[in-house]
Amino acid sequence: MRLDKFLGDCGLGTRKQLKEYIKNGMVKVDGTVAAKPEMQVNPEENEILFSGENLTEGYARNRCFIMNKPQGVVCAARDKDSDTVFDLMDETILKDLSTVGRLDKDTEGLLIITNDGKLTHSLLSPKKHVEKEYEVHTLKPVTEEAIKRLEEGIDIGDETPTLPAKAFIQEKDGKEVLHLIIHEGRFHQVKRMLQAVDNEVTFLRRVRMGGLILDESLSPGEYRKLTDEELQLLKENKK
Ligand code: URA
Repeated sequence: MRLDKFLGDCGLGTRKQLKEYIKNGMVKVDGTVAAKPEMQVNPEENEILFSGENLTEGYARNRCFIMNKPQGVVCAARDKDSDTVFDLMDETILKDLSTVGRLDKDTEGLLIITNDGKLTHSLLSPKKHVEKEYEVHTLKPVTEEAIKRLEEGIDIGDETPTLPAKAFIQEKDGKEVLHLIIHEGRFHQVKRMLQAVDNEVTFLRRVRMGGLILDESLSPGEYRKLTDEELQLLKENKK
């Protein structure tokens, strides 16, 4: 593969930025400063360093991104009507990437995008009970009674009620917002849970998945590679 493609896969920047890095001598292949973005490399055979950091060592492991998904784009490989989350990403890193679960088109917030099928499976497995925390804005105030029912598990029209959840009110920008922590990923689950307590979601943002908290410095639409520490938190499913 081309060197700039490999560097892009590692999430190091746009093609233009990568060209600059190479021009500035920041990339070494097998101990020699790389001169051209189009140089052919094989990450399994060559040792590629960026600013001294060995990229080939962690190549397969590290293709995991956190995105602050904006409203208006869908979590799908392609869609005939809407842009997808992949349209927001640099084309050089897209190969084999999938979203870990889906957020609705009008939902914002934490989305993990990876090529690691094992990680995806373990985060979505019902047995693992990975917590998903949502900030939920509602049409009407959420009553104590509603919180109790959301926490107990509630009939949302499926064969079985939802599993027990955690729900609490937190103040944000002078407004009271509901935080709902669920362990499942049923279709439109949060919206249907609020409907079941005679309310309506007006805005939804996922703020946490397992131990990984949405990075507030990412504006909607922005993404970055997960750090090794974050990846570890996710894998251990710790808070
Ligand atoms: N629940 C919903 O209703 N929508 C989402 O996007 C995520 C959880």
